[in-house]
Amino acid sequence: MNVNGIDYRTVWMEDKEIKLINQTLLPHKFEIYTCKNHEETAEAIKTMIVRGAGAIGATAAYGVAQATLEANKNNYNDYIKKSIETIQKTRPTAQNLFTGINFVLNSIKNLTNLNEIQKIAVEKAKEFSDYDVEACKKIGEYGTSLIKNNYKIGTHCNAGWLAFVDWGSALSPIYSAHRAGKDVFVFVNETRPRNQGSALTAWELAQEKVPHAVIADNAAGYYMKKGEIDIVITGADRIVANGDVANKIGTYEKAVLAKENNIPFYVAAPTTTFDLETEDGDKIPIEERSQDEVSFVYGYEDGKITKVRITPKESPAKNPAFDVTPAKYISGIITEKGIIKANKEEIKKLIENVSN
Ligand code: MRU
Repeated sequence: MNVNGIDYRTVWMEDKEIKLINQTLLPHKFEIYTCKNHEETAEAIKTMIVRGAGAIGATAAYGVAQATLEANKNNYNDYIKKSIETIQKTRPTAQNLFTGINFVLNSIKNLTNLNEIQKIAVEKAKEFSDYDVEACKKIGEYGTSLIKNNYKIGTHCNAGWLAFVDWGSALSPIYSAHRAGKDVFVFVNETRPRNQGSALTAWELAQEKVPHAVIADNAAGYYMKKGEIDIVITGADRIVANGDVANKIGTYEKAVLAKENNIPFYVAAPTTTFDLETEDGDKIPIEERSQDEVSFVYGYEDGKITKVRITPKESPAKNPAFDVTPAKYISGIITEKGIIKANKEEIKKLIENVSN
């Protein structure tokens, strides 16, 4: 990704510190946030300074590496174990978080020399992060074949560079199509309550000069029915064995509307988002976040970010952060290994290919 002429990744490690693009300040301010230890890294995941499945997966992998660097010779086993528990508890839904932690953990679990553990953990976290970049680039290459010239594309939440280490999942095919000279237009659902669409996706598309408009979440059906949306592409936080997909709250209703209006609905995700141990979508843990995210909005005025209440003080709110789209609504899944159908057989074959 290129911001103001400089190449960035969303997350990286410098010595013992983890650096993140602070997503809570976007689109108003671009700032790099530093996590000095694994506790600060876990807190940054929890408070959504870093957000999006791929980005939190890479951050979690770096967080494990960071914990090995903090450990000492007398306590390293317990210290690393406890640190992993802290990172695991930050957010429950995105599979990439667990894939990232396990990738690093599996590479060090049989080692007994702390220096070696530290060296391998840092190398493996970087390898995991690099894989995310390459996988997302490939998703763009495969997915671009679905986008014809003059296509109008619907998307939900943020599944661009910021939600991964680079490129993104759902936005990667759009970036590839745009760079190849195709005329495209993106309908960006604002994605209440945290506004990942209007704050992050819109900001990314503006940086890339991709034509787009932000629409209220409630307007997506209106444009679909009018025949103004040719294809919908979203990301995924977890894809389970039968092809059901957990993604940002509101995705399910967009998928149902797409089917009703005969619009292809694709999900884009790297294989690090797949969880074959979970049979179907009903068993995916859905994060319930603070009701304040619904009761208040954040805005930027006079050089500072301000929080404003928009509901009666007496009214409680409910705030599920994700929903599950059943496989039957999904036209296909765009992965770094190609485009597959959202069914048990194709998913099993895909993951067997990756493991071999
Ligand atoms: O709760 P967030 O901001 O971490 O949301 C995750 C997402 O960015 C989306 O659900 C996205 O569409 C999945 S693809 C990274």
